Amino acid sequence: MRLAVLKERRADETRVAATPETVRKLVGLGLEVAVEAGAGQGAAISDEEFRAAGASIAESPEACLAGAGIVFAVQLPEPEQRAAIPRGALLVCIAGAHSEPGLVPALAEAGIDVAAMELLPRITRAQSMDVLSSQANLAGYRAVIEGAAAFERGFPMMMTAAGTVPPARVFVIGAGVAGLQAIATARRLGAIVSATDVRPASKDEIKSLGATFVGVEDAETATQTGAYAREMSESFRQKQAELMAATVAKNDLVICTALVMGRRAPVIVSDAMVADMKPGSVIVDLAAEAGGNCAATVPGESIVTPNGVRILGYRNWPSRIGVAASSLYARNLLTFLNGFWDKAAQTLTLPETDEIARGVMLTRSGAVVHSQFLPQQAA
Ligand SMILES: NC(=O)c1ccc[n+]([C@@H]2O[C@H](COP(=O)([O-])OP(=O)(O)OC[C@H]3O[C@@H](n4cnc5c(N)ncnc54)[C@H](O)[C@@H]3O)[C@@H](O)[C@H]2O)c1
Repeated sequence: MRLAVLKERRADETRVAATPETVRKLVGLGLEVAVEAGAGQGAAISDEEFRAAGASIAESPEACLAGAGIVFAVQLPEPEQRAAIPRGALLVCIAGAHSEPGLVPALAEAGIDVAAMELLPRITRAQSMDVLSSQANLAGYRAVIEGAAAFERGFPMMMTAAGTVPPARVFVIGAGVAGLQAIATARRLGAIVSATDVRPASKDEIKSLGATFVGVEDAETATQTGAYAREMSESFRQKQAELMAATVAKNDLVICTALVMGRRAPVIVSDAMVADMKPGSVIVDLAAEAGGNCAATVPGESIVTPNGVRILGYRNWPSRIGVAASSLYARNLLTFLNGFWDKAAQTLTLPETDEIARGVMLTRSGAVVHSQFLPQQAA
């Protein structure tokens, strides 16, 4: 079976869905791997390295996709590339299924079977395939590194002959995978770190990393026991806003990572809170792609507010650490494929009875099959 690896087309995308390491393993499974020319450019992988690992290099997306039974990509390919995917082939990517209404039915209509990796169930067996976790972890690290670079003072307390430089105060909003990595990274750099979240389980995780928990704890947060947070009520948001107003103003850096699956990111840092921050403070908004946790964030931009607060609102944080992000993403996809690949028969079967297969499959044979997107659900 032929497996095609596409070159990503979005302007801010540096990642690639396979690496020489995973190509070697895919070839070892009996697959014929075709990589589109230049696919690894943003991740510092040359065509030559892919060729040496056993892939053929295809000069165009059409040539890459011709005869493919499986297609690997990072983001959902653009409509022009999608049109060249053979009917019945399986496309494995971060499909952005919730990003625009009508997308999932359109994919079904085009006859592409899509495995949307962002919908992977959060169960133990799926951990090594979990693209959201692998990418969020790196994004959380990168957010602190870029925030530290934009902050013109330094993170650790420095006692020098010329006097003492105080440590930076960092506040992390959302203590999921990205937020916990941000806490750990800021601590390693010597900052005083605090963090908030709405899931009660996060409190101990925040403390175990040496940060202080700052958050509203009420009957509503007590019900947040799932792997993903739900949208909070208006009354919770008011209580949280009061606490945030006092906390944000005391901090030098605010790292925003709060997300609610399938929804716009909650707006937690208001314009008034930004106006109360000291000049030179930095906000890094990892939630920018989903609208941002900060009201003043301009998605895709780095801006400075009139009171001198820099807000980094880049959309695609994993791409800003593209070599490592590609390496982990490619391994996630390899593990996923490996779990369903019959080497003897050289076939890939994703049975509807399997929790992981059912969790990711958006469309099959021209129909929408995912429970969250069935026509009656969407209506
Ligand atoms: N296989 C597994 O079991 C598995 C895999 C990955 C993650 N997880 C767990 O799932 C949890 C969430 O992971 P994630 O990073 O993907 O989450 P996420 O990216 O969906 O959200 C980031 C964080 O924002 C928080 N948040 C949402 N609304 C908020 C609000 N209004 N105010 C403050 N915080 C808010 C969420 O609770 C979450 O911790 C973590 O505990 C993680 O360890 C489990």
